[in-house]
Amino acid sequence: MKKLDEVKSMSGVVKRLFSRDIDAILNLERSVQSEIGDSESYVVSQRSYFSMCLPMGAIALGIYCDDALVAFALVSFPLGRGDNLGDDLGLPDDEIGRVAQIEKAVVHPNWRRMGMHSHLVDRIAKMAESMNYKHLVATVSPNNPASIKVALNARMWAEKFAFKYGGMPRFIFHRDLLCPSCEIGSDRIEVPLGDYQRVRDELDLGRRGIELCSAGTSILLAR
Ligand SMILES: CC(C)(COP(=O)(O)OP(=O)(O)OC[C@H]1O[C@@H](n2cnc3c(N)ncnc32)[C@H](O)[C@@H]1OP(=O)(O)O)[C@@H](O)C(=O)NCCC(=O)NCCS
Repeated sequence: MKKLDEVKSMSGVVKRLFSRDIDAILNLERSVQSEIGDSESYVVSQRSYFSMCLPMGAIALGIYCDDALVAFALVSFPLGRGDNLGDDLGLPDDEIGRVAQIEKAVVHPNWRRMGMHSHLVDRIAKMAESMNYKHLVATVSPNNPASIKVALNARMWAEKFAFKYGGMPRFIFHRDLLCPSCEIGSDRIEVPLGDYQRVRDELDLGRRGIELCSAGTSILLAR
């Protein structure tokens, strides 16, 4: 296994992935399939998903090491309201087409906790900003502390909680790319990640999830 210092200059190795990389993406997804099992925290995709979305404008970024794809993330740019998390967030009509939506991210188990996922999300945020998108959004399972941390570190806040993809619990994370210093209120409460009803109610009342606490078992909600 490589050490972190060996992959420090990851900015040089991040590549845009195309249809020819689909086999590598599917292999990488298979590497997490056994650890995920029946868990609902990540949904492994079929080849047809990538064959359809890549030619239609979605952008996949990946990190290759020793000729193997070890990390990838996919962002789509939905045109209408269907499958657009902007709809869940209640974005107005004139902003619904300005959403960059992170759909997937996987890091091979041997390359975890080296900052690869964080790096890819950072690259996606910068890319979306340069393409004049206003909103960066993603869903994350409440049972996936690593992904919640990545989103929060990227200054995406949990703004909604919903059951998506046929009933799976998901936070909807959002960052306004045109409002880099959005204020976070000082009225704060801690809610267990497993208390879906309370989390949902508090977010609907205008709080935002800003931090993991109690060893990653609770989320701090601010207003
Ligand atoms: C989620 C995943 C992509 C994270 O990749 P990664 O490259 O290891 O993440 P990073 O190294 O960028 O870590 C980001 C943060 O999460 C933390 N983290 C990583 N793994 C963690 C874990 N298992 N539990 C708690 N925190 C964790 C890191 O410490 C870091 O936080 P910090 O910067 O505040 O210290 C990876 O675990 C994975 O592929 N999981 C299976 C597929 C999946 O769940 N994809 C995401 C679906 S939205």
